[in-house]
Parts: sequence; C-alpha cells; structure tokens
Amino acid sequence: MSKTEEMRSSAQVETAQAEPPLALEATGVSKAFRGKRDNLQVLNNVTLTVRKGEFVSIIGPSGSGKSTLFHIIGGLVKPDAGTVRMNGTDVTGQQGHISYMPQQPALFPWRTIEDNVLLSQEIQGSVDQAARENARYWLDKVGLGGFEKAHPHTLSGGMQQRAAFLRALLSPQELMCLDEPFSALDALTRSDMQRWLLNIWEESRRSVLFITHNIEEALLLSNRIYVFSGRPASVLQVVDVPFPRPRSEEIIEHPEFIKLRRELSGWMREEQLKMQKVLKG
Ligand SMILES: Nc1ncnc2c1ncn2[C@@H]1O[C@H](COP(=O)(O)OP(=O)(O)OP(=O)(O)O)[C@@H](O)[C@H]1O
Ligand SMILES: [Mg+2]
Repeated sequence: MSKTEEMRSSAQVETAQAEPPLALEATGVSKAFRGKRDNLQVLNNVTLTVRKGEFVSIIGPSGSGKSTLFHIIGGLVKPDAGTVRMNGTDVTGQQGHISYMPQQPALFPWRTIEDNVLLSQEIQGSVDQAARENARYWLDKVGLGGFEKAHPHTLSGGMQQRAAFLRALLSPQELMCLDEPFSALDALTRSDMQRWLLNIWEESRRSVLFITHNIEEALLLSNRIYVFSGRPASVLQVVDVPFPRPRSEEIIEHPEFIKLRRELSGWMREEQLKMQKVLKG
C-alpha cells in the first residue's frame, strides 16, 4: 500500500470510528396489505437508519405508511421485502427489541397508571422498590403526580398519552419508537412536553425514531428528518438538521430554521396535493 493509500485508509477508519454505530438499519422495506380485490401497496423500498444516540424523525402525509413501518420495525408485521437490523443483528419479524409508544396510547384498563408505566420493566424482569420510586419520580415530572393509583379511564386523553410516553421512556430497550406521542395534547402542554423531551433526551441520548406531523417539532428535536411520500411511502428527502445542542426554542427564529421549515412545508403540501388528486380519481 502506498503512503497516500495508507493515509486515506486510516482516515476512513477514523471517520468510521467517529460515527456512532447503527442502532437501527431498515433496508429496502416494502409492504402491501392483501385486500379482497386488490392489494394495497403501503411501503415502497424504504431505507432509513438511526445511529446510537441520534434523534431521527419521520414526517409524511396521513395514511402514507409511517405507523406500518413502526409495526415492521417492532416485529408486529412482516415486510414483503427488506430487512430490519438492530445493533448489527438481523431482527426482521422479531418482537421485543424496541421500546414502542403506539399512536393510540393502549394502556391496560385494569392496571393502575403506575403499573402501566412499569409494564415493560415487568416483562423484562422484576420490578423492585427502586423501579417504583423512579416511576413515581417521572410521573410527577410529567404532571401525573397523585394519579399513580388511578385507572386509565379516569384520565384525559392527553394524560393517558403522557403515561404511555413514560412507559416507553422507562422501557429498557435502547431504541425508542414514538408514534405521534404528543398529538392528543393541547398546544401549551405539547410545547411543555417538547421542551421536556428535548431536555431529557439531551441528558440521556437514547436512540429515538419519532413520527410527527408537526414540522416545527421535528426541526426542534431531530438530528435528521426523513420526509415520506404519499402512499406507497418511499423516502422523498432526508434533511440533516444543523443546529447545535443543547437547543432551546429560540432556534425557531433562526433564518436557517425558517428556511428549512418552508422547504419541508412545501414538500408536504406537494405530497398532500398528489394524494388528494389520487383520491378524487
Ligand atoms: N393491518 C392492516 N391491514 C390492512 N390495511 C392496513 C393495515 N394497517 C394499515 N393499513 C393501511 O395502510 C395504510 C397506511 O396506514 P398507516 O397507519 O401506516 O399510515 P400513517 O402514515 O401512520 O397514517 P397517519 O399519519 O394517519 O397515522 C392505510 O391505508 C391503512 O388503511
Ligand atoms: Mg400513523
């Protein structure tokens, strides 16, 4: 190997080492649901990655296939083509590898809020006094202090969403998949929760894959945003979000933020128009 080649290859090794490893690698994922008459193609060759400690968002039109992709990543649905790898291992079709907050809060009605929040830890092992104290600490932090022993039906939609979010946060798996976690919250609580998530994420640096319809939320929180096309969803754009961390809400006034917001809104509007045309036939 020549000196230049040697230098180049050692530089490549350094770059490879500088980048954190891949927590999630979904490659070439396609899926169609079989109907009585036709098949409904939902995902078309979707490839995306989340590195360890990255916050990655997906935005895309309603009905494009975002939640279906989460079901595939979580092993609830099998893809027709493509693979899901976590920490380098093929886990396609396997369950139990992610911490998951579904689009519907899905709390068990017969369990108290505290026991719902502790569910994943219970499945993975046992729940001791320290785990209970930790759960109570976090319940208090999201404004659910005093509701530990309440049952889900006595809570508002937004409170149930916060409890479901905490359950995902306290699950032991490295990758958190959050499907529109703040959609049932009013604007003020949503903005509080965004700030709160930003803070705890910047402290803990969990790997997060996050679905949202809210462009500002995606820009505020993410390292990278995948823009999905309308159904069948494919990756239309990948946007690296350049703002340094820790971030504060003030970045929404930054000219670069405004430019990215405009670009993302434009792409989303185009996709929505295309989908409306398809629906009108
Ligand atoms: N199990 C299933 N069987 C048949 N069709 C399904 C199934 N799950 C989802 N679909 C269809 O796949 C399409 C994509 O649904 P999905 O829930 O993934 O969309 P989405 O992008 O998450 O939408 P939203 O933003 O509204 O949550 C929809 O047309 C839906 O009806
Ligand atoms: Mg969805």
